[in-house]
Amino acid sequence: MKYRIAVIPGDGIGKEVMESAIEVLRASDAPLEFIEYEAGDEVLKRRGVALPEETIEGSKEADAVLFGSAGETAADVIVRLRRELKTYANIRPAKSFEGVKCLHHDVDIVIIRENTEDVYKRLENEITEDIIVDLRVTTKEAVERICRFAFEYAKERGRKKVALVHKANVLKKSDGMAKRIFYEVARNYKNIVAEDYYVDAASMFLVMNPQRFDVMVMSNMFGDILSDLASGLVGGLGLSPSANIGDESALFEPVHGSAPDIAGKGIANPSAMILSAVMMLEYLGEKERAERIEKALRESIKEGLTTPDLGGKLKTKEMTEEIIKRL
Ligand code: NAI
Ligand code: MG
Repeated sequence: MKYRIAVIPGDGIGKEVMESAIEVLRASDAPLEFIEYEAGDEVLKRRGVALPEETIEGSKEADAVLFGSAGETAADVIVRLRRELKTYANIRPAKSFEGVKCLHHDVDIVIIRENTEDVYKRLENEITEDIIVDLRVTTKEAVERICRFAFEYAKERGRKKVALVHKANVLKKSDGMAKRIFYEVARNYKNIVAEDYYVDAASMFLVMNPQRFDVMVMSNMFGDILSDLASGLVGGLGLSPSANIGDESALFEPVHGSAPDIAGKGIANPSAMILSAVMMLEYLGEKERAERIEKALRESIKEGLTTPDLGGKLKTKEMTEEIIKRL
């Protein structure tokens, strides 16, 4: 049996890094069948729609979705697709790479971001021209679901701690509820340490002492911001993968966008996309292959065989070949 993978390369470097990820997946001999769909700026120009219906349907039917990046249409493409697929958990790991110059060298954090509510409901109300009220939505159902997801994630991977990030001193009702539910859920996981941080303090600790964190769980906007911060701790966008998980679908994508400044030059770092594919293999139960690919990628980086963003001299294709050689 082969897993059916919906592949959406999208715009700009999305196309370039997707090609690399598919090559690496093929080289790993994973039992995958790829079905390509289109979305993004170019499709909007050509067909008048950024996210065609067959792309949505194909993604729903697939066992998993691999997404590259969209450009100006990102909100209409990827934000919509995450919603259509009902992916409520956004997983963003940040783990140090040997050979990459950074502030810290032993970071191993996984940020789990609630993916469905908060200000991303985009309920912006114009009261008068000068006063806009944004609704920040928090429901018990979504908080409980994401907290459970975080503890299950930690349990399955033998991780020791889960930290809730919140602002319950100001948002007494919404984040107050989140904090209460978090500790209720934590009671079912006696072997995992549960702790909580104010988002401001968590930001400082992430910069000064990120080693204190393991799994972190938080609402949508805090997760958006802190996951980029965490990504900066280990080498930045070229290295940051992510997974969007729901009960029926899963979508894997690099954190970066279409990078118009380097698109077409063949120098995009394929690592974030390849590591997203690694997360997909793990999700599909292909742990051994996932580990092999990640190891090959980390070895290449350690040896300095990288694209220019990490100080190397290789093109996207050359870095991909080095990874495949080490598989
Ligand atoms: P970006 O992530 O595309 O680029 C930011 C900077 O990081 C650029 O200097 C770029 O060259 C560099 N960079 C990103 N990925 C890289 C890689 N793999 N290798 C080497 N360098 C890399 O974000 P930006 O510039 O804010 O947005 C550009 C376009 O992408 C916009 O149209 C935006 O809407 C879209 N976008 C799409 C996203 C998505 O599809 N998920 C996410 C973020 C932005
Ligand atoms: Mg972001």
